[in-house]
Amino acid sequence: MPYSEPTKLAVVACPGGEHFANEVITHLRHMYKHRFNLKRDVISKRYDTDKDDLVREINLYNDLHTSDLCVRGHVKKYRAPKFFVDTEFTYFMNGEFKTEIKECIRGRDVFIFQDVENHQELSLNGGKNKQILSINDHVMSLLVTIDAVRQAGASDISLVLPVYPYSRQHKKKGREGLTASLLGHIYENMGVSRIITLDIHSREIENSFSKAIIENLHASYQIIRELTKLVNLSADGDDLVVVSPDTGAVDRNKFYSTRLKKPLAMIYKERDYSQVTQNAKATNIVSIKLLGDVKGKVAFLADDMLGTGGTLLKAMEFLKEQGAKKVIAAISLPFFNGNAIAQFNEAYEKGLFYRIIGTNAVYHEELLKYEWYINSNVSGLFANVIIRIHHNQSLSDLLDNRSIIEKLVKKE
Ligand code: R5P
Repeated sequence: MPYSEPTKLAVVACPGGEHFANEVITHLRHMYKHRFNLKRDVISKRYDTDKDDLVREINLYNDLHTSDLCVRGHVKKYRAPKFFVDTEFTYFMNGEFKTEIKECIRGRDVFIFQDVENHQELSLNGGKNKQILSINDHVMSLLVTIDAVRQAGASDISLVLPVYPYSRQHKKKGREGLTASLLGHIYENMGVSRIITLDIHSREIENSFSKAIIENLHASYQIIRELTKLVNLSADGDDLVVVSPDTGAVDRNKFYSTRLKKPLAMIYKERDYSQVTQNAKATNIVSIKLLGDVKGKVAFLADDMLGTGGTLLKAMEFLKEQGAKKVIAAISLPFFNGNAIAQFNEAYEKGLFYRIIGTNAVYHEELLKYEWYINSNVSGLFANVIIRIHHNQSLSDLLDNRSIIEKLVKKE
């Protein structure tokens, strides 16, 4: 299928995922236009053809090959693809959802976007209802949407779920369910062939699928890009130590420590699992120890998600007590549940940390207002992955970002 007319690529956004989908679509548009212009320039030179004539011929070719009478748009100019599928969502007063696809998507390669941690007030039913949706609401609206897309005859269904819901329920102790895997089976049985996610809590979740493929993207390059603006990573620059906030985050932080060529320290916490963490202050952490040295250094911590913020706040407070000069944390999926933002504001006022870097894969309007919060943009990464999947191209260099990180760190 020609990349010059990607009419088969379609984006459906659930109400929670609309914001991120729009950001990704902006990148898709730029990338397609850039590729089109590049190809136009190369081919016009190669075949010694006038660029404008070539564009006209490409448009003619696409008009001849579309199953419609012709493709909408100018005959002599680049025709920007639409991608966004017109969809109507109804939210009923008893909490049920309905999704209706308002245009033909038969045979299209559909990417459904959902941000299950979007807890901003959403405008539903054409603006008549304002509603904050829970994670379970978002999961249900996703299922209803997958069904509508499938019934409408899409040829391929991929989910773009930066937050894989229930990913912390991936293993069991005693009589517990395996909810991460349960959801995977549901998606798969509904005909989903691929799930694109970000820094998934556990790679074990992939084992639950027999047919669907998980593309687990990493936010580390985008995070390090922001970190380089905050600290001097060169050999004679800031004295930085990477600190794993708990044993579960060691691999993630070892990656940063290796790539940044900085030492690794680790925090060890004892938790009382008979208690559920209520908020950032009332956590189930009972004791905390440090392996390594942070005295007089800039401590950098990375975690996959920030829920109540309890894990991170405890770790940052502890690192300051241990003599860290500055604390910077990076979170791939910043949920900031409940009153977490207020608690981080309070901790910032007390000087417990310097900056938190979080990605835009979870939508937060309020967070962007604070000087301590740094937004790291991963929309371009998602757009690139979607284009490559759509055109059956390799994802290897996007999934393994070690060489681009090396170049970035070398520049410092
Ligand atoms: C734990 O295994 C995760 O990686 C996060 O550290 C944790 O879920 C964060 O939760 P909270 O912010 O509520 O402490």
